[in-house]
Amino acid sequence: MNHGKPLKDSDTFFSLPSIQLALKKEQKDMANVLLKVLEKVVPSEDEVRRIKNLAKKIKSKLERILRDIGIQAFVEIEGSVAKGTWISGHVDFDVFILLPPPKTRNYKPMLEELLNKIAKKTDWSTQIRYAEHPYLHIWIDNYEADIVPAFKTPPDNIVSAVDRTPHHTRYVRSVLSEELKNEVRLLKTFLRGIGAYGAEIKVGGFSGYSCELLIMHFGSFLRTIEDLSKRKRIFIDPTNTWTPKDAFRKFNHFFILVDPVDRNRNVTSALREETFSRMQLMSKLFLVHPTIKFFFPEPTISYPPKREALIDGISKRNICIIVLKRKNISPDVYWGQTFKIMHRIRRLLERSEYSLLFIDTIEGKSSMIILIETKFRSIPTPRKIVGPPTYASIDNILSFINKYYEKSIAGPWIEKSRIVFLVEETESIDDFLHRYVSAVKLEPSFHSFEIISNPKKIIEYIHKENVFRKFCEIISRRWILEYLEKNYSSTS
Ligand code: UTP
Ligand code: MN
Ligand code: MN
Repeated sequence: MNHGKPLKDSDTFFSLPSIQLALKKEQKDMANVLLKVLEKVVPSEDEVRRIKNLAKKIKSKLERILRDIGIQAFVEIEGSVAKGTWISGHVDFDVFILLPPPKTRNYKPMLEELLNKIAKKTDWSTQIRYAEHPYLHIWIDNYEADIVPAFKTPPDNIVSAVDRTPHHTRYVRSVLSEELKNEVRLLKTFLRGIGAYGAEIKVGGFSGYSCELLIMHFGSFLRTIEDLSKRKRIFIDPTNTWTPKDAFRKFNHFFILVDPVDRNRNVTSALREETFSRMQLMSKLFLVHPTIKFFFPEPTISYPPKREALIDGISKRNICIIVLKRKNISPDVYWGQTFKIMHRIRRLLERSEYSLLFIDTIEGKSSMIILIETKFRSIPTPRKIVGPPTYASIDNILSFINKYYEKSIAGPWIEKSRIVFLVEETESIDDFLHRYVSAVKLEPSFHSFEIISNPKKIIEYIHKENVFRKFCEIISRRWILEYLEKNYSSTS
């Protein structure tokens, strides 16, 4: 695969398109940063050998098990190990079991049964996981692997969502050159550093495959981030079969990267606007002031404030949290459900008089924590109190009037046959949210919820869930400053 050339060799690195580009522009700082990153993320020949051997071992062991239980299938290594684009020290093995297309649409129980049989036959530690699709997660020699059952089908006529993967692997292997693999490593590491790597719902960023396609399209890491950071909308079509207009209409997304193995699929459909925007800003900041921090962020320098100071600080602002107590279920499911609930609360609060300033989610140890900041903590709500009818006893009527007269702002008047007052009450955001979340379906991700608005109690809960640092970051929302030069100018 690596044509006998040593992978880790600074001469090889010097010929990389990104390094050449940086040197051509006389950006020595940039070239140095990229060389340092490559030093860390390109695996040594020794690592490559170890990984390939382990991949072979997993593959042949699986083949033997499948033979033993009498299943006709191919075992294939997919993902970055097969494509040679993994980040040194961050390996995950994606091992696919390719089965003939199923006879029924309801094939998931059959796949689960197969995974259970496999799990019983090995001495690996295993765990069956359910994303949209069941798979087996295993731990082996200090590495982790996903064993994914899929169907061998043509790329434009797939049965399950993972059936395209073998086609992706084949495509990338046939097109991506040795040199560009390292450009892919730069892009993946950069995106991971700024929190934009991964197509899972939690991140809403770029998948490994999309990084590979982008590098093939732009030819280098630097060209990729230069170009992408300038555009409002992206249209990249390796199949050359779409007009931008038709593609934007069909895919209905601001970032279109047509899948070369299936022209009807947008590879970047899971990319969220906010994640992409972060990538654009970080790219621009990196291009003017290249440092290694973008690739390997240090934990924020700004010290988390003292507990008392923080309580004091948030007492001056209107902050509350909705705690959703999690069940044991896969991240894509509970993140997906949390985002849905969060979007609904956002819309609700935007239309309300509490007036929304900020909303975000923190993943705690045992719960999802939706953090809400509003302009107001409570709002006056005039409420009509409908009393007894005029044909009731006079005692009854008078006691009603006595009860509400003091706190009323209008009345008593008569409506149809009844005595009515208007009273002014205030509704706290807790009560408002409580009423709303009570009507929200918590299944399947959560078993109960709680709303906390007392600053001291918020901090207590945040500590208990082990997310104090993250909470401080979200409260201050100053992370961009960590990437700026002190005088905030673009000329060095
Ligand atoms: P990965 O997310 O592992 O990406 O999925 P990658 O290209 O290998 O990159 P890194 O270096 O690990 O981050 C690899 C392929 O396997 C499929 C994905 O959809 C993707 O096409 N896959 C992997 C699954 O469908 N299910 C899994 O459980 C694991
Ligand atoms: Mn992988
Ligand atoms: Mn994986």
